[in-house]
Amino acid sequence: MIKVAPSILSADFARLGSEVEDIRLGGADYVHFDVMDGRFVPNLSIGIPVLKSLRKATEMFIDAHLMILEPVRYTEAFCKAGADLVNVHVEADSSERILAAIDTVKKLGKKAGVTLKPGTPAEAVLPYLDLVDLVLVMTVEPGFGGQSFMADMMPKLKKISEYIREKNPGCELEVDGGVNVETAKTCVENGANVLVAGSAYFKAADKKEFVRTVKSYG
Ligand code: DX5
Ligand code: ZN
Repeated sequence: MIKVAPSILSADFARLGSEVEDIRLGGADYVHFDVMDGRFVPNLSIGIPVLKSLRKATEMFIDAHLMILEPVRYTEAFCKAGADLVNVHVEADSSERILAAIDTVKKLGKKAGVTLKPGTPAEAVLPYLDLVDLVLVMTVEPGFGGQSFMADMMPKLKKISEYIREKNPGCELEVDGGVNVETAKTCVENGANVLVAGSAYFKAADKKEFVRTVKSYG
C-alpha cells in the first residue's frame, strides 16, 4: 500500500490544528514533521513544544524527521512529546550514537527510522537496516521545501528497496523532497511506499485528488 505523508513545513503554522485535520480528512496517512537545528541543515524550523501541541490536536501518525546534529540528545524528548516514528540522519553522528538513538526510540515503544542525504551511498543504511521500521531517502538536499526533485537518486532508492526485500521486508521506504504527482510515480516504480510531499501537496487545488492519484500508483 502506498502512503502519503504531507510535510507541514509548507503548512500555515498559525492554523496548524486545522491544517492537520484537513490532512486527515484528505485521506493521507502520516503527518511529516520536519525538525531543523540550523547546524545539520542551514535552516531552523519547529521542535518539541509544537510537537506536544500537535499531539493533543490529532491522532494521526506523526513521522518526525530530525535534521539535527547528534540526534540521540533529543530522541527521548521527541518520543515523549508524541512522535510515532523518530527518524535520524545517518550522517548526524557516529554509528554507535546513531545506534543508541534507534535503541532509545525502540525502547520507548515507538518506530525508528534512518535517513540518507543525497550524497550518502545506499550501503550506509546496512548497519541499521535490521533495527529500523523505515528508511528515508532524501531526493533534495535537506533544509528547505520547494526544491526540485533529484531523479538521480532513483538507482540508490532501488538498491535500498532490494536490501529491504532481502534483509527486513517489513521495513518501509520513504522519499522526501520535490515529490509531486509525476515524481511520485517514479519513486513508486523504484520501490518507495511512503511519499512525503510539502509544497506539491499544499499547493494542490484538490488535496484529496492529490492523495488519491499518488496512492493509485501502488
Ligand atoms: C526538506 C524537508 C522536506 C520538505 C519537503 O528538508 O525534509 O520534508 O518539507 O518539501 P517539498 O515537498 O516541497 O520538497
Ligand atoms: Zn522531511
